[in-house]
Amino acid sequence: MAQNGIIENGQPKGEIPGLPKPVKITEVKYTKIFINNEWHSSVSGKTFPTYNPATGAKICEVEEADKLDVDKAVLAAKAAGDRGSAWRQMEVSGRGRLLNKLADLMERDRALLATMETMDTGKPFLHSFLIDLDGSIKTLRYYAGWADKIHGKTMPVDDNFMCFTKHEPVGVCGAIIPWNFPLLMFVWKVGPALCCGNTVVIKPAEQTPLTALHMGALIKESGFPPGVVNILPGYGPTAGAAISNHMEVDKVAFTGSTEVGKLIKEAAARSNLKRVTLELGGKNPTIVFADADLRLAVEEVQRGAFFNQGQCCTAASRIFVQEQVYEEFVRLSMESAERVLAGDPMDPRTAHGPQIDQKQFDKIVDLIRSGEREGATLEYGGRPMDRKGLFIKPTIFSGVKDHMRIAKEEIFGPVQCIFSFKSQEEAIERANGTPYGLAAAVFTRDVDRALSVSAALQAGTVWVNCYNALHAQTPFGGYKMSGHGRELGEYALAEYSEVKTVTIKVAKQD
Ligand code: NAI
Ligand code: MG
Repeated sequence: MAQNGIIENGQPKGEIPGLPKPVKITEVKYTKIFINNEWHSSVSGKTFPTYNPATGAKICEVEEADKLDVDKAVLAAKAAGDRGSAWRQMEVSGRGRLLNKLADLMERDRALLATMETMDTGKPFLHSFLIDLDGSIKTLRYYAGWADKIHGKTMPVDDNFMCFTKHEPVGVCGAIIPWNFPLLMFVWKVGPALCCGNTVVIKPAEQTPLTALHMGALIKESGFPPGVVNILPGYGPTAGAAISNHMEVDKVAFTGSTEVGKLIKEAAARSNLKRVTLELGGKNPTIVFADADLRLAVEEVQRGAFFNQGQCCTAASRIFVQEQVYEEFVRLSMESAERVLAGDPMDPRTAHGPQIDQKQFDKIVDLIRSGEREGATLEYGGRPMDRKGLFIKPTIFSGVKDHMRIAKEEIFGPVQCIFSFKSQEEAIERANGTPYGLAAAVFTRDVDRALSVSAALQAGTVWVNCYNALHAQTPFGGYKMSGHGRELGEYALAEYSEVKTVTIKVAKQD
């Protein structure tokens, strides 16, 4: 999600070389359930609509998977991963070759995938193309490289034993993903699962099924054996719950709300104690010290707050600014917000699109109203935009106090909440005063302060003098109620592998 140096605060710095025009999509080709490299209608015969949040228009109907479709998919995934199957017999470097092939096909279809992602989510095409697609392709290539480097160890015991470990696939991996980064979340789960030799049953969010289904076509074209990846568009309490409750699913990886994260763990415990990794909400603190490069801090933090219309688990939602520079920070933030161009997400200059759906839109508006009622100062925005679609103007609150709802609840909208603090110790204490622990950021020019504050913050990721700097190589996940387990990097491999210890008795030699 790095910004390539050609977009500043989410906004293009002039013409972007190599940015294509969005593709004209007159008809969506893949709208069915993908099992065994084939397209299936739902067992129930039901379909559901997906909408473009920028216009409110229906894009198309998609087949609606439910429990019986999940049963079919799990059967296919289990057979595909059986001993003797093409997938299990494949040379391990072959998995890497297939993942690289899939990345090549994503490169080929990059403009189409970015357009489809923008159509289904409302996120600016500029970001879909440069950030979501870039991150997805790099993640696949990163895990392609791991496929033939996943190995165990030998353990010295004594002359009577030879002990070694093997890293084996877990089996059928369920994945349930959200609508804020449909392609990235697809790849964050499928990439490590496949390089470790697992098979996958994945459910995209009901709001955004389209790019996942296109990935089905690319997976087939890449040459993955049938059943290795199965894709089931559908709703959470039906298709999602069928995955998390399934007795033959060996692991489930989930990204979404903390509330549903709890249901997933409960379902795993009640069924077969499947392994669970969770990536949930956040109420991420940023601490800006008086000695920071203030312009850098303003830009990075505001991008952290507004990027993807604020619909990020990593959103910079609590910004603590030291009192000496507080007023200046608020003033510069307002100036910077003026420059964020909101509008048609297909316009290559647009950096701010609509929220995903009416439910999220209403939740954000309600939280903004609560901020006003509870006495925060609304400095900028704070209302829906005067145009069709689910647009909310980027919003800035100053004078936010820790007890307010906007200080405690995940807003998941373009709302920047600015707090003032006096001492380092106070800032750390207040930053950690949340049940979440996903990400945090520190802005300072003092390296000792940067190191001691990042050590004190309870978060899975701490950014120093930057924000949302995510890379395929670096692990990502939460402390506390932001989840557990890690995605990305070498660490994710452990979440998709079983470790087998083989101990051999060495017979005494005469
Ligand atoms: P959600 O947690 O309901 O949806 C995420 C995924 O879980 C979707 O695929 C959904 O179909 C599935 N799901 C829902 N209920 C399920 C169940 N009972 N069993 C299995 N799967 C189920 O999140 P929602 O309603 O879209 O958003 C609500 C809030 O969650 C947001 O306002 C935001 O605060 C948070 N959220 C956090 C995300 C993150 O990146 N960590 C992503 C999306 C939402
Ligand atoms: Mg949609």
